[in-house]
Amino acid sequence: MNIVVLTGAGISAESGISTFRDNDGLWKKYDAMRLASIDGFQEEPEAVLEFYNARRKQLLAVQPNHAHDALAELENEHDVTIITQNVDDLHERAGSTNVVHLHGELSKVTSSREREDDNCIKQYPLDLPIRLGDKAADGSQLRPYIVWFGENLRYMDEAIKLVGNADVFAVVGTSLVVYPAAGLVRSAQQKALKFLVDPSDMKGRLPIDFMHIKAKATEGVDLLIDKIKKL
Ligand code: OAD
Repeated sequence: MNIVVLTGAGISAESGISTFRDNDGLWKKYDAMRLASIDGFQEEPEAVLEFYNARRKQLLAVQPNHAHDALAELENEHDVTIITQNVDDLHERAGSTNVVHLHGELSKVTSSREREDDNCIKQYPLDLPIRLGDKAADGSQLRPYIVWFGENLRYMDEAIKLVGNADVFAVVGTSLVVYPAAGLVRSAQQKALKFLVDPSDMKGRLPIDFMHIKAKATEGVDLLIDKIKKL
């Protein structure tokens, strides 16, 4: 069976990484447009680098949780692709081998002239802060390999195709308010089985045809896998 899972910040919440829009979410404390937009980076690069350096460093202190592990193990029985909006590497660290990062990766850096220049994208130690004056391979200011508000998504077309080929499409831990990623719920075939794992009541946000598993990711992914096993 071909299983595609779209994940958001909620799947990493139980690993200790804050979500964005819950009560204790990052965008309740910080201004997203200042710290996570291309305009913000142009206006206050130092503040943006500081914000991402802290998030990069935090990754060293967290571990994948049971939800990441269970999705990785599912590869033993099925073709599983994870499409994640998360910039952490917890799916990979849990052992998932097909992970598409829609919004970039904290463990990588790139050019501030051309974000998707493959000659400039490289792994960068998480404990090494990116400083103003550090240069990418093309001589431009080094920046985190993150898709900011106001930038386009390199892997969106690929994600649409992957979701369109899924027999089972599951959504785990995302508020589904950030587009274009949220629009993927409309790319699944009608005959695909669709599940959504999220502890909130998803009032007004539950997409049509999706079965809501109302639980935190560490429990909800087990419930999801039970349902898949019965198919
Ligand atoms: P949000 O913070 O918008 O939504 C998090 C979702 O996770 C909510 O629906 C919560 O109910 C749910 N949640 C909370 N705890 C959970 C748990 N333990 N298990 C499962 N679900 C839980 O985060 P995203 O939807 O991922 O983009 O946000 C999308 C994008 O907005 C992010 O990728 C980021 C942000 O701005 C960029 O920075 C480019």
